[in-house]
Amino acid sequence: MPDTITITDNRTGKSYEIPIEYGTYPEYGAYIAGTELRKIKVSDDDFGLLSYDPAYMNTASCKSAITFIDGDKGILRYRGIPIEQLAEQSTYLETAFLILYGHLPSQSELDEWTHEITMHTLIHENMRKFMDGFHYDAHPMGMLVGTVAALSTFYSESRDIGDPENRKRQIIRLIAKVPTIAAFAYRKSIGRHYVYPENDFSYAGNFLNMMFRMTEREYRPNPVLEKALDVLFILHADHEQNCSASAMRNVGSSHADPYVSVAAATAALWGPLHGGANEQVLRMLREIGDRKKVGDYIKRVKAGEFRLMGFGHRVYKNYDPRARILKKMADDVLEVTGKSPLLDLAMDLEKIALEDDYFVSRKLYPNVDFYSGIIYQAMGFPIDMFPVLFGIARTAGWLAQWQEMLEDKDQKITRPRQVYIGEDERQYVKMARR
Ligand code: ACO
Repeated sequence: MPDTITITDNRTGKSYEIPIEYGTYPEYGAYIAGTELRKIKVSDDDFGLLSYDPAYMNTASCKSAITFIDGDKGILRYRGIPIEQLAEQSTYLETAFLILYGHLPSQSELDEWTHEITMHTLIHENMRKFMDGFHYDAHPMGMLVGTVAALSTFYSESRDIGDPENRKRQIIRLIAKVPTIAAFAYRKSIGRHYVYPENDFSYAGNFLNMMFRMTEREYRPNPVLEKALDVLFILHADHEQNCSASAMRNVGSSHADPYVSVAAATAALWGPLHGGANEQVLRMLREIGDRKKVGDYIKRVKAGEFRLMGFGHRVYKNYDPRARILKKMADDVLEVTGKSPLLDLAMDLEKIALEDDYFVSRKLYPNVDFYSGIIYQAMGFPIDMFPVLFGIARTAGWLAQWQEMLEDKDQKITRPRQVYIGEDERQYVKMARR
């Protein structure tokens, strides 16, 4: 017998039996279809019961097979594979393939995938000229949002979102070109010449080359930093239905093309409560400035003056598993780049916060952004670039979410309901009589 829940409406005395369905794990994924509530009515012309859920605190907007998170236990898996294993054994491009296509690639699949992406890293020269038009102090994230959206005008065939082969072409282009645009945005913002992609490098190595190459005849990225960046990209590749993934799905649900949809997701990522947080962590650590001031700063956070950036998460009510990996990686990176006083400050902050009842009782633990900013900074990335780095990595996740949404027969154009709380009908009053 199927599981059901019975709801009795005491306005009418009627009972309704609603089927309970499940995802992979019954203990996490038990749900009822929201539309079942519509059957609960006082009269035939009644619209039916709505569920009110601002910020989607308890609403599943889709079924997804991409990423699994258990926020209480601090578990994150892409397509079933624990993030720790991927961080240790995979590469970003292999992980991107896994996220997008659901399985680890065979050697030939991986070779072809890597080749295709490597061959699409250049951008049209008109795009470069387009980027020249940005103001000298434009934020690179603003440039990324604008330029990725502008890619749509170069690839008009991308609007044919129903053709899987066509979609794949756009996916390859986006994963290949976003790092080039990101690096160009940085070089533009500091008035340096653009460095074109090099096909001999890895995905992360090429990005470091485009970011940091000066006049060397042969640029060689430091292997420790190259590996660290690749791991950072893996850790940020997807995170199920967060603000930017939802933006991607929402915009994509109107059948907009993938470029403008990724631009919308990038815009959502930019906010300081989402991908902009790593930038804020660094600003916060600089503002604190001295280990002696950590206690005072925590007091002000507890008084509600501001939030401790890089702490807390809508889903993780435990240590973010990505933060754990990064905390370890910070040591490897700092061994190459030299020690950062900000890391000591961050360690102090974390220690105090993890022992303080304010944070413990609210289950506020360091999230991925707490350590990523320190590592990025040590590697030489300016603060403005932090959310951009996040966006490069998350492009694969957004596209996987987009593709899954398009292939899902249950999905339609996103259109939430509202509970209207405004005026009842009233009459227009002429200006002279107001
Ligand atoms: N510092 C201090 N207090 C906090 C923090 C924080 N970082 N985060 C949450 N709280 C407190 C809230 O004030 C609230 O306290 P109250 O119950 O006394 O009112 C309680 O904890 C619950 O907070 P909510 O805002 O309800 O939690 P929510 O799930 O909506 O917020 C969020 C999650 C936005 C990430 C929040 O923790 C935050 O603002 N953190 C700082 C920004 C940050 O690091 N964002 C990065 C997230 S990770 C990512 O996007 C990749």
